[in-house]
Amino acid sequence: MTTEKQPTVASMQPFVIPSVAPYYESNGITLYHGDSHKLLPMVEDADLVITDPPYGMNFQSKYRAKKHKRIANDDSLPLSLIWLSIAKANAAAYVFCRWDNLAAMPKPKSVVAWVKNNWSMGDLQHEHGRQWEACCFYAKDGHEFVKRIPDVIHADRTENALHPTEKPVHLINQLIAANVAETILDPFAGSGTTLLAAKLCGKRAVGIEIDEKYCESAANRLSQGVLF
Ligand SMILES: C[S@@+](CC[C@H](N)C(=O)[O-])C[C@H]1O[C@@H](n2cnc3c(N)ncnc32)[C@H](O)[C@@H]1O
Repeated sequence: MTTEKQPTVASMQPFVIPSVAPYYESNGITLYHGDSHKLLPMVEDADLVITDPPYGMNFQSKYRAKKHKRIANDDSLPLSLIWLSIAKANAAAYVFCRWDNLAAMPKPKSVVAWVKNNWSMGDLQHEHGRQWEACCFYAKDGHEFVKRIPDVIHADRTENALHPTEKPVHLINQLIAANVAETILDPFAGSGTTLLAAKLCGKRAVGIEIDEKYCESAANRLSQGVLF
């Protein structure tokens, strides 16, 4: 006999921001199109925050410059929203950041390294090829691991087909699966990777994304289900 806990219909109720219509809502996964400065204070707290804010580097993909425009608000690290994102986590928060922003970040409990299957170009003469990205981990009182995993996670990079800094679903799945959490929040949702991973793990989740183009990509992915 299995004792695995299945999500109930009641537990899959959508996240609701009063008087704000969601861009996408289905089966406990909700996406709001808007600015987290306005919407994040209005959204209910979640067990786990997993988010990938702009790195503050005015990133524009050289690889697909025509396809992807600059990331909104990428001129500086959005520290006030990062602090608020961490505050909205009941159990724990994961916040991706560039290695050279680590000193500016709130002090984490761990720095998880996402190791990719390729490395960046950068300064070919005087800089090592970067093969990992940092993800700061913040644990709150009452945080519990389902399974304690190491601080190095291997996951193949995506082709960035939907977003210039698209994270792999498999990477986010591993973060979700490691922690006791029923609800997930991503205030910088991009193409909806965290929301899709939450859906695949049977969790309730809410995301906020300022760029409607990426809301559209996220909604398409979430409607299709298990493609990525
Ligand atoms: C690094 S990307 C996230 C990519 C995402 N992890 C994915 O896999 O697609 C950061 C996202 O935050 C969005 N963003 C920037 N400022 C925002 C704000 N104030 N409120 C909501 N979203 C914002 C950007 O449009 C961008 O899509």
